[in-house]
Amino acid sequence: MPPLQNDRLLRALRRQAVDRTPIWIMRQAGRYLPEYRATRARAGSFLGLLRNPELATEVSLQPLARFDLDAAILFSDILTIPDALGLGLYFVEGEGPRFERPLRSAADIAALSPPDLERSLPYVFDTVRMLRRELAGRVPLIGFSGSPWTLACYMVEGGGSSDFRHVKGLSYSDPAALHRLLALLADVVADYLAAQAAAGAQALMLFDTWGGVLSTSSYHEFSLAYQTRVVERLKAQPVSRELPLIVFTKGGGQWLAEQAGCGCEALGVDWTQQLGDIRRITGGQVALQGNLDPIALFGPPERIRAEVARILQSYGNGPGHVFNLGHGVLQQTDPARVAVLVDAVHELSTPYHR
Ligand code: CP3
Repeated sequence: MPPLQNDRLLRALRRQAVDRTPIWIMRQAGRYLPEYRATRARAGSFLGLLRNPELATEVSLQPLARFDLDAAILFSDILTIPDALGLGLYFVEGEGPRFERPLRSAADIAALSPPDLERSLPYVFDTVRMLRRELAGRVPLIGFSGSPWTLACYMVEGGGSSDFRHVKGLSYSDPAALHRLLALLADVVADYLAAQAAAGAQALMLFDTWGGVLSTSSYHEFSLAYQTRVVERLKAQPVSRELPLIVFTKGGGQWLAEQAGCGCEALGVDWTQQLGDIRRITGGQVALQGNLDPIALFGPPERIRAEVARILQSYGNGPGHVFNLGHGVLQQTDPARVAVLVDAVHELSTPYHR
């Protein structure tokens, strides 16, 4: 493998000195890019696209051809694991993901068994290998998974939800069954991330998109405990031990101090928090990734630059910051505004690294 030419992301995640703040964007490969929509049309569907390593590699690289980004992220989805567990993933146009066989009872949960990941998700690891070859060391490649709690949300609800009454209901009516599901998922998630590392991923991210819907005590019991179990299992394996891991609970700002102790290298932070406050609270224990409101990209270029300046100033001097949005880029975003963002981060961040 050729040596890494741009290691800003990996250095920042390890809180080592960099010349400027690295930036990548959650959902950087996606529907806001016309070239993504064209490749997706060729693939026939979103699932057809992510199951085709050539085309998944192509769309992962598209944002890098447009913007001076400091990382690539595997093009895939967090719902590959539930699909591998036999739930039957499909997408309803305009409505998001669904499962043919959601988990509704303790018996459904008891019937699950850990899948052979290499056999059920070969296209994921093939895409990672192909991406590393195509990237040829230009920037590092990030692999990812959903958190156990967030995967459980989709698996029990059968798709997205506005109130999560089935999965949260289970946490009150049969917590032992939910714990069995989360324990199984934690081990599968860790093995899935380790397999991405073995295939060539150079950093890893855990998306806890729905941790923020829980009460504080439930967050600790059903989300954070299993993030920690994932980290422990990853750090116990030589293939993944050295890779920086970012964990991100959307809506989890009130729990960042506790989350910082889970053994990860970095925390993703949504836009509701000030990075300077979080940096103080977490005491330099972890790097921070974030945290521009994705909707800020609907403002004029001067406002985007001002927001970037504000966030950089809030974090302050020194390493340990990876610039990102506080959640994924929206499909209605003008790609020209993303270019403004990336250039602003590179230009305005250098004084913080002298
Ligand atoms: O960041 C990247 O560029 C990598 C690709 C990526 C996708 N999904 C591609 C995708 C990543 C990291 C994800 C993670 C993911 N998937 C999460 C966690 C991140 C988050 O946003 O909090 C979640 C909750 C999912 C589940 C999921 N997949 C949803 C809710 C949707 C949207 C459905 C819709 O139609 O709006 C998807 C589909 C999806 N995943 C798309 C992309 C580019 C859009 C699919 C399309 O082309 O139609």
